[in-house]
Amino acid sequence: MIEGVAFDAYGTLYDVYSVEQKCEENYPGNGAAISRMWRQKQLEYSWLRTLMGRYENFWRVTQDALRYTLADIGLKADAAVLDEIMETYLKLEMYPEVIEAFALLGSRKKVILTNGNLEMIEPLVERSGLAAHLDGCLSADEVGLFKTRPEVYGLAIEHMGLEKEQVLFISSNGWDVAGAKSFGFTVGWINRAGKPAEELGVRADYDVPNLLALAQAVAGS
Ligand code: LAC
Repeated sequence: MIEGVAFDAYGTLYDVYSVEQKCEENYPGNGAAISRMWRQKQLEYSWLRTLMGRYENFWRVTQDALRYTLADIGLKADAAVLDEIMETYLKLEMYPEVIEAFALLGSRKKVILTNGNLEMIEPLVERSGLAAHLDGCLSADEVGLFKTRPEVYGLAIEHMGLEKEQVLFISSNGWDVAGAKSFGFTVGWINRAGKPAEELGVRADYDVPNLLALAQAVAGS
């Protein structure tokens, strides 16, 4: 029985590629390339910092990833432009089906469980109107490690007071799906990009194209 739901934020509830327009305005012709590389580097840096034991919060990791990306593409990064592009992370677009999917999931406790530090996730949740539908935001910042460390997934257990398999963890990120399943959650993969499953020895319990399809599957289970 699913008693609680924990959502990944970036890529799952919020479109990380909605930064593309701002990148394009500042660096014409490069918006899409920046947006893709920036996200990939952000993730790599989160994993590397965790492996190296050199934690910095996700805002800082995201800034560093942006600076690297611009340098690698050969673009000049002045401080004002960096700040302007970083601000888009506080205004990412929420996927259109989120509110309807939340309603279908009913009265179960719902939290965000994200690598993002509270200073970056809470303004986004407020601004997008999701705050009223949530029971809170849990951040990897609390343990100073990033997903896929089990300590991060453990925050949901601690805060919700449930058994691992009673929690449905939802992510669009294949690596996060693998981490959450390895931890012991029931896992829903929002496979927005139609990707193959990661070859990491674990598989999601649900593999669906969007949040609504997952909420429907869970509601009918
Ligand atoms: C999250 C990112 C990393 O934890 O997808 O929200």
